[in-house]
Amino acid sequence: MNETLKIISNRVSLRHYDKKKISTEHMNKIIESAIEAPTAGNMVMYSIIHIQDKKTMQKLAISCDSQPFIGTASDILIFVADFNKWNNYYKNEGMYLEKGRKPKNAEMLLSFEDTMVASENAVIAGESLGIGSCYIGDILENYKYHKELLNLPEYTIPLGMLTFGYYPKDYKRIKKKRFDKKFIVFDEKYKNLDEEELKTMFKSKGKEFYNRKTNSDFMKNFENAVEQWFKNWGRE
Ligand SMILES: Cc1cc2nc3c(=O)[nH]c(=O)nc-3n(C[C@H](O)[C@H](O)[C@H](O)COP(=O)(O)O)c2cc1C
Repeated sequence: MNETLKIISNRVSLRHYDKKKISTEHMNKIIESAIEAPTAGNMVMYSIIHIQDKKTMQKLAISCDSQPFIGTASDILIFVADFNKWNNYYKNEGMYLEKGRKPKNAEMLLSFEDTMVASENAVIAGESLGIGSCYIGDILENYKYHKELLNLPEYTIPLGMLTFGYYPKDYKRIKKKRFDKKFIVFDEKYKNLDEEELKTMFKSKGKEFYNRKTNSDFMKNFENAVEQWFKNWGRE
């Protein structure tokens, strides 16, 4: 296996960090690697908010479903889907054909793609420097609170949050198994899995996932945020 494949294969979500602060040089490398990621039309429809203030980290540790380890990270990057900059620029330059045009849902989805593609580059760059990370999906919760905390204007959505810190010395990585490849990769066309295949794929975990994820308070809270985004973007 080459170095890149090894790094990808050894990565785990890291939730225990060495006390050492990540060096500026390493953080710059992580951020620059994120910016190197592909972006739709090279429009770079995202922004990155770099959090180092422990007080903000503590607030995020509470607002993101009370996950104390968030407050112990060395650095946090919040990847914000961002059409605000383009929208303001277009408006300033009088470029919109339709009067009062708002960014569309299509632009929102494209900005989502840009945002998450960039964030994963940051993860891999971190791993290559001995720095682990963990995505925090709960940044999508408490939309109003996060909007205020991070000073987010309309047409921005805090989509991806990553905590970063050096791997502790002798950290024992526990690799989590994925579903069997045959359930994920289909040849040429989509394959609708039958009842037996779905049972085999999800094993006994179906109920647990339903209660912990799909039917959770988080999902309800997230749904409220999503409704808000679709209301703000794309509607005249
Ligand atoms: C979109 C997304 C959101 C996540 N949110 C959280 C989170 O809020 N807290 C957490 O501890 N892990 C979070 N994770 C990490 C997953 O739990 C983890 O990736 C998964 O269990 C597989 O483990 P691995 O990353 O070690 O392979 C998130 C991962 C992704 C991709």
